[in-house]
Amino acid sequence: MKLAHLSDLHFYRFPSWKGIWSKRLVGLTNLYIRGRIRHFNTDIAMLAIRSVIEDEPDGVMISGDLTALGSPEEFKMARQALDPLIARIPTVIVPGNHDYYTRGAANSHRIEEYFGDVIRTPGSAETDPTYPTLHLIGETALMGMNPSCYTVGASGRIDPREVERLEILLQEPRVAGRFKVLIIHYPLFNRGGKVTPLFWRRLRNRENLIAVLSRYPVDLVVHGHDHYRYSNTMTADNGQAVYLANAGSAGYARGSVKASYNLYEIEGKKLIRVTHKNFGTGGFEITYQGPPV
Ligand SMILES: [Fe+2]
Ligand SMILES: [Fe+2]
Repeated sequence: MKLAHLSDLHFYRFPSWKGIWSKRLVGLTNLYIRGRIRHFNTDIAMLAIRSVIEDEPDGVMISGDLTALGSPEEFKMARQALDPLIARIPTVIVPGNHDYYTRGAANSHRIEEYFGDVIRTPGSAETDPTYPTLHLIGETALMGMNPSCYTVGASGRIDPREVERLEILLQEPRVAGRFKVLIIHYPLFNRGGKVTPLFWRRLRNRENLIAVLSRYPVDLVVHGHDHYRYSNTMTADNGQAVYLANAGSAGYARGSVKASYNLYEIEGKKLIRVTHKNFGTGGFEITYQGPPV
């Protein structure tokens, strides 16, 4: 059983002048004047998607930030780019903060409008997804969380009711008996294993979620938001180690930080092998393959 993990593809398109007012102006300043636009690369994001299709995983997890400014044009682009993958491989998506970049994107549930069929729990009749979503693929149970919201900064806040629903879900036999993966945009710990010191970038009420995961541990947490690859482990109350992985960004590269994604191989409900792929001269190349580190 093999799962691919992509994050922070950040498809972007210069918005129409009408759409520039609002927070998009701040975003554009960031992207163009401070030069971040140089670091987003849609062509590389497309290559990452193609590379994942060639890897032939059993499932794909995308941990948010499909877009840069959350505009309809960017969502159209992202959908078009991801459709070949979605058509071939069961795919699970959760929103990131950039997908709710403007009040309009958040209020209109724009990401759910374009990707609702991929986000929602399969078989559910609801129009707006209830989080956590649940996707059962082979021996795995993939749960999609959504703490992303419209905010002046880039922080997230998880609805306490969502955490309560997760706690109940984790005790259901169809979930408890599987290899459990939590997909969330925000990291629970930063690269140094601590809470990120930048309050405008962090998941503000992460403690509730950590408490539930301590009581009912999952086997893997995948996330993005910080555009570089790292991993940590946390120890649950029963002594189980929970592996948390940031795959880096599949559409962003800066200096020594390359666009990247991860593959996880599961055998007998155990994570036995992790593969790191980075964008290099020959496309996406393996830079590490071995036990989870
Ligand atoms: Fe991002
Ligand atoms: Fe983000």
